[in-house]
Amino acid sequence: MDLKINSFDEYKEQYALSVSDPDGFWDNIAKTFTWRRPYDKVCEWNFDEPSVKWFLNGQVNITENALDRHLETRGNKLALIWEPNDPKERAVRWTYRELHAKVCEFANALKAQDINKGDRVVIYMPMIPELTVAVLACARIGAVHSVVFAGFSAHAIADRIQDAQAKMVITADGLNRGAKQVPLKRVVDEALQACPSVEKVIVYDCVGWEPKMVDGRDIPWDQAIRGMAKDCPPTAMDSEDMLFILYTSGSTGKPKGVVHTHGGYMVYAAYSFQNVFQYEESDIYWCTADIGWITGHSYIVYGPLLSGATTMMFEGVPTYPDPGRFWQVCDKHGVNQFYTAPTAIRALMAYGEDHVLSYSLDSLKVLGTVGEPINEEAWRWYHIHVGKEKCPIVDTWWQTETGGIMISGLGHLSPMKPAHAGYPLPGIQPVLLDQEGKEIKENGVEGYLCMKYPWPSILRTTYGDHERCRVTYFSHYKGHYFTGDGAKRDENGMYRIIGRVDDVINVSGHRFGTAEIENAINANGIVVESAVVGYPHDIKGQGIYAYVVCEDLPKDPSAIETARAEIVETVVEQIGKIAKPEKIQFVSGLPKTRSGKIMRRILRKVAEGEPDKLGDTSTLLDPDVVEEIVKGAL
Ligand code: PRX
Repeated sequence: MDLKINSFDEYKEQYALSVSDPDGFWDNIAKTFTWRRPYDKVCEWNFDEPSVKWFLNGQVNITENALDRHLETRGNKLALIWEPNDPKERAVRWTYRELHAKVCEFANALKAQDINKGDRVVIYMPMIPELTVAVLACARIGAVHSVVFAGFSAHAIADRIQDAQAKMVITADGLNRGAKQVPLKRVVDEALQACPSVEKVIVYDCVGWEPKMVDGRDIPWDQAIRGMAKDCPPTAMDSEDMLFILYTSGSTGKPKGVVHTHGGYMVYAAYSFQNVFQYEESDIYWCTADIGWITGHSYIVYGPLLSGATTMMFEGVPTYPDPGRFWQVCDKHGVNQFYTAPTAIRALMAYGEDHVLSYSLDSLKVLGTVGEPINEEAWRWYHIHVGKEKCPIVDTWWQTETGGIMISGLGHLSPMKPAHAGYPLPGIQPVLLDQEGKEIKENGVEGYLCMKYPWPSILRTTYGDHERCRVTYFSHYKGHYFTGDGAKRDENGMYRIIGRVDDVINVSGHRFGTAEIENAINANGIVVESAVVGYPHDIKGQGIYAYVVCEDLPKDPSAIETARAEIVETVVEQIGKIAKPEKIQFVSGLPKTRSGKIMRRILRKVAEGEPDKLGDTSTLLDPDVVEEIVKGAL
């Protein structure tokens, strides 16, 4: 089960091997897992259709590998620690045996509600241990889970349920987030008005609200598990059977369902977890992400549990009850690996060092970041005040579509450079391409980041629309997977991610398509059209700046404020609070070319506060509008 590389020299050897003999390399790793039926081929692929298959004809169940196979040697080891929102509440600690029993019990409950292999189940839950149970129970019986982050609106959930044609929703009455409680069941009820595919809703009692239950459809969690056996044989799945769908934003208005499968995802989640975090048997590992995002899937649930690790889940927020909470929790549980987002570090930095300096943080060995580029100032703060200059920082670059970490340091093994993700993991073959799609081979260059060879956890398709998968990822540069990111490679071959080169904005590490936000804004009746761009934001990395054209342009300050509030409200309704535009500027028109295309470059420069760098505006239909936009910039 130990898949760990132990030195940088060994990394280099393994990397070379993974390129010269990828099948042999992955076979060595994959065969350490428990297969119900051995695979007869390691990989078959082409990036044209695309069609990528790993561990062909193998049969496996990821939960058998994440739970059952540890029972003999690690049955009494802690699998999951849960730290509640309220520090006065008791933490939950479940051993592998306990987690196994709970997953089996809930898997039986799902079966009793007629959930079968291949059925889609949407999970909209708080960060509580039952969320992990629900995810694993689906995987156990071969149902396809699709976790929707519990900050999305009814409208956004409905979109995802409809796209997945989900048969069941698992939710809770509400959730605790800092000093607030947020309803969930009510939001689900609203969403389900437009979702006839959903037959059953299981509701966990998290905050004690006793929500209204719909007869024949809604079942309290406790009732669903009553009398269920605590043993449930894992369903044998084909390697390439769907494990989960996770929706993510792209450059079009509609989020897409990224599909991951049992075999390949399992192998890569475990391999990358052990190597990046250099996890050792008695370590306590904590990733602060939400399971609603890919980071939570791969590095709270699957990667750690597949590796027999102790993984921690946190219900709360970094600033509750005070901005020292992360560090208090690290000391309380003796956390060894700590994995968080740059936005959280920047937010805590703003409260000053005192909150972190009052904790010892002695147990920490490896720190990690994910989701967006980390600026040098935040990197140094993290390194000095949290890591006490003794912990390596792994800056992990990857995506929902890649399933696992692609470019990153490996704990203390790799050289470190602030703001650089570093070197690719073994098995990962990144290239930088120029405008024409030609590979730039030298170092000290910049280009479009692509992959020229598949890895086991690459997305297989976008649910229900394979053509969209092809067009989005495999059509820009023939024979390559295109990441949508730009990157630099320094003189030593280390990668630094610059950011998205498409119409995707990364707000606090969360992805939104500009078209998705524009659609939401345009849903407001006062809006004629809008254009959204990202701009640098001290804490969030990028903020959302919206230029809005209204039928009647609001003029006086109070009318402007009312119109802004209305538009924000519409975005919250359509997507959720996480997509709120930070700035809304009302304009009489948008800068368009003669063919009607919005010139976002201009809007971006204005939003970035660089109106003197607009470049060539001669192709604009109405150049006057630019002057107005520059004058009214926020
Ligand atoms: O632009 C890159 C950025 O986040 C995008 C992927 O977003 P998502 O699928 O939501 O997954 C986030 C968590 C894996 C990437 O295309 N990104 C992610 N990690 C980094 C990053 N940018 C710079 N440095 C990173 N370490």
